[in-house]
Amino acid sequence: MKILHNKAEMTATTIAWQAAGETVCLVPTMGSIHQGHLALIAAARKTANRVIVSIYVNPTQFGVGEDFDHYPRTLEADCAAITAAGGCDAIYAPANMYDDGHATSIVPAGVALAMEGQTRPHFFTGVATIVLKLFTHIPANFAIFGEKDYQQLAVIRQMVRDLDLNITILAQPTIRETDGLALSSRNLYLSAAERKLAPLLYAECRKPPNRLPEARQLMRP
Ligand code: PAF
Repeated sequence: MKILHNKAEMTATTIAWQAAGETVCLVPTMGSIHQGHLALIAAARKTANRVIVSIYVNPTQFGVGEDFDHYPRTLEADCAAITAAGGCDAIYAPANMYDDGHATSIVPAGVALAMEGQTRPHFFTGVATIVLKLFTHIPANFAIFGEKDYQQLAVIRQMVRDLDLNITILAQPTIRETDGLALSSRNLYLSAAERKLAPLLYAECRKPPNRLPEARQLMRP
């Protein structure tokens, strides 16, 4: 398993595999690898001859006062977890994706405007910009994303369609704890009380709509 930090080397490796007739699937992540990521990697392995996992905590998708400084950075443990689960062909872990003076962004509208686009207005611009940069560094045939971040997946599909990008976007179902909580690196932030409440969101979504007032009652502080 190669671990690459350099963009030119990453691009050359991808192109060399493709020139040899192999297909390449990119699994973009911010690290802190858990079973959800490992399921994406396993699906990527079934799809393409070569699998590249990118690990980069992207500053532009964090707003002021969000958790950029505290977001887990665990490259060594991530590589070990990926290896233990069968590995991939390359891990791309650039130190920095933005040169000094970086001044160009992708600003998605359409599906990016509602929901998280309202509560975190910087978020989808940061995601679309970094994902397009990753697609440039790694001109893969496929990229795979989790349905957990469903609006993110829709924004990326919209960008690929609108900008005529030559890549196929694949999606994988959400992986959950046994009590229904979706796996996420940020679950670490939940207090014991919040961790107990969190699965209720999923449980309530699966009930008929007339049970929603009951859920609101339960969630009231
Ligand atoms: O879903 C994530 O982990 C990130 O938003 C992504 C797609 C890797 C971009 O930084």
